[in-house]
Amino acid sequence: MSTIKSQEMQKRAKQRIPGMTQLLSKRPDQFSLGVWPGYYSKAKGVEVWDLDGNLYVDMCIGGIGANVLGYADDDVDKAVCEAIKNGSSSSLNCPEEIELADLLCEIHPWADKVRYARSGGESMTIAVRIARAQTGKDKVAFCGYHGWHDWYLSANLGTENALGEHLLTGLDPRGVPKGLTGTALPFRYNHIEELKEIIANNKNELAAIVMEPIRDDEPDAGFFDEIRALADETKAVFIIDEISAGFRMNSGGAHLIYNIQPDIAVFSKALGNGYPIAAIIGKGDIMDAVQKTFISSTMWTERIGPTAALATLKKHRSLDAGKHLVSIGKLIQEGWVRLAEKNDLKIHAGGIPPLSHFSFEYYNNSLALKALFVQLMLDKGFLASTSFYSMYAHQQKHVESYLHAVDEVFKVISRAIKQGDVEQKLKGKPAVAGFKRLT
Ligand SMILES: Cc1ncc(COP(=O)(O)O)c(C=O)c1O
Repeated sequence: MSTIKSQEMQKRAKQRIPGMTQLLSKRPDQFSLGVWPGYYSKAKGVEVWDLDGNLYVDMCIGGIGANVLGYADDDVDKAVCEAIKNGSSSSLNCPEEIELADLLCEIHPWADKVRYARSGGESMTIAVRIARAQTGKDKVAFCGYHGWHDWYLSANLGTENALGEHLLTGLDPRGVPKGLTGTALPFRYNHIEELKEIIANNKNELAAIVMEPIRDDEPDAGFFDEIRALADETKAVFIIDEISAGFRMNSGGAHLIYNIQPDIAVFSKALGNGYPIAAIIGKGDIMDAVQKTFISSTMWTERIGPTAALATLKKHRSLDAGKHLVSIGKLIQEGWVRLAEKNDLKIHAGGIPPLSHFSFEYYNNSLALKALFVQLMLDKGFLASTSFYSMYAHQQKHVESYLHAVDEVFKVISRAIKQGDVEQKLKGKPAVAGFKRLT
């Protein structure tokens, strides 16, 4: 199996695109530089072709959670092609954005109004701006990952690595105005006492409490009720970030499952099955603060995003896709644990089933082991890493052939650990964890 063209493209990318790609999670060094194909020519269902014509079954990050139904979904693409034929943008607005707003508010009956953007981080920035405009306050207490923008990255100003506890470690806040120091205050999931301390130390200064509904652990009983009460008490806007969790376990926000009562919820990723779209939905009086400030952008008015979202949501709902995504994810997560045990490997598996992940519990060389896993799975025709994001197009047969391959690969890895020759078996570089400059 040759990946010459893919590797050549990566060399060109390094010359022309600082950091190689626009998204850390798709950087080849996150898998194994020199081995990971990096570029695709075609994707359909769960299959991906690289530039050298190699075909892989994608049992990996599913477009990092964007392609919830599967790649190039026929129904979504049909709606998008129709929108393109009829003009994907004009001097007038597209009616699809009203239809989508109605649908989002029907699915989330607590919400009255909707604004749109086209990507996750920017839509979180809009939500935070709305909260600041509405409350007239500046500070934000947050938990979890919310993107690359100044309001969020400022948490690492003047701290060791405050964001290291929130998905990505090593995020350098260089370029973020130092004046934002102390405006974004992190607390950990299920650590209500940390939020209480933030509130006690920042009396009447919190504009928002920002959280993901779930990432790894289930919420403790009463955790979100307390957050709701604290938000009311401090008159802070409660924002739920559904960018990763939304449309995974149900056809809506995960907050519906956990009976969380937000003021604003934010969606992107799965919403458009890979087409750029993001929605900020919320209570009418709070969303109206959009008009007290200036939030406006040309490309937020194009037609493909809302069209794709409507087609995705309708299909997702009619198939009850969340059920399938959960059951596939469970099979994968249970499979990892069972096969690791069988092959005498120490791993830790976690995540909600549709966004599953595992790590090799070998502290000195877990990243070399990850790279070896990636490499050996590529050899068997799978795009695979230590994360698995379910797509509706994943079927039992994919799970079976994948787990069969994992069994064989775990066996090789287990033997390599015992023989102490993991590094020698690597054709590429060990994986990189978190954010580091690409050299
Ligand atoms: C919970 C959450 N919020 C925000 C973002 C940022 O979204 P985007 O990458 O579309 O800017 C992500 C991306 O992974 C996310 O998982």
